[in-house]
Amino acid sequence: MAKKENNLNANNPIGIFDSGIGGLTVAHAITKALPNEKIIYFGDTAHLPYGDKSPDSIKYYSIRIAQLLLQKKCKMIVIACNTASALAYETVKDFVGNQALVVNVIDPVVEEVTNAKKVKRIGVIATKGTVKSDLYAQKIKAVNEKLDVASLATPLLVGMIEEGFFNNKISRTIINDYLSRPKLSKIDSLILACTHFPLIKPEIEEYYKGKVNIVDSAGVVAKYVHDLLKKKKLLTTQKNPQHHFYVSDYTKSFEKSTKVFFRKKIKLEEAAIWK
Ligand code: DGL
Repeated sequence: MAKKENNLNANNPIGIFDSGIGGLTVAHAITKALPNEKIIYFGDTAHLPYGDKSPDSIKYYSIRIAQLLLQKKCKMIVIACNTASALAYETVKDFVGNQALVVNVIDPVVEEVTNAKKVKRIGVIATKGTVKSDLYAQKIKAVNEKLDVASLATPLLVGMIEEGFFNNKISRTIINDYLSRPKLSKIDSLILACTHFPLIKPEIEEYYKGKVNIVDSAGVVAKYVHDLLKKKKLLTTQKNPQHHFYVSDYTKSFEKSTKVFFRKKIKLEEAAIWK
């Protein structure tokens, strides 16, 4: 069997993937924290949304995407999707072995929220797949079993955000309906456990009026990525990186929507790995 190539070279790119374009919130935060690093982004738009898919499908998709990112010489693979992080992180890690570092979006957020002062009851809003995995609760309780975790699936939010419905009357009504559910009562912290949700953070903050600590993955994961690359001496020495943003199924409407997630228009390329 051919020896697997090791991509752990500082000047190799960081691979980031998500079910679609929501993970661009994480990609954007990484480019801000690490402006010299080259990003290879892959959005699996052919299979969007991941939130309703079976664990076996998510594992299958994630491995094929990891394979693509390894072929593109990525030194690190960031699973910028909570659903894939919850259901496929261990599988991806096993598959990648020592060829590259693998980062999920759950561990850095769990670390952040459990380190906060005065935390007792933590709310988690996410896709059905992430909530069903129960991974946030398990990981939080592994740090501190006294912490109470209330997880609520909020499936309408992903489609709502992708269709550009945020910061308006309709989004406020849907967000308020979810956040006022008895399940989330008396929380002191709320994890936005979906990489689409940084876009509705202002509305969630408006709802809680500073009474709840709201944690989203983008900035937290970017800092984690920075610290890990620094620790492993894998920060690039080059400048002016040329990023690439791939999707498995290109449409003009996806390209148009990238602007809200990445805060500037980017060119999408198709990597039709399923066709
Ligand atoms: N961005 C994905 C996540 O963080 C959610 C979108 C989807 O259901 O595909 O879970």
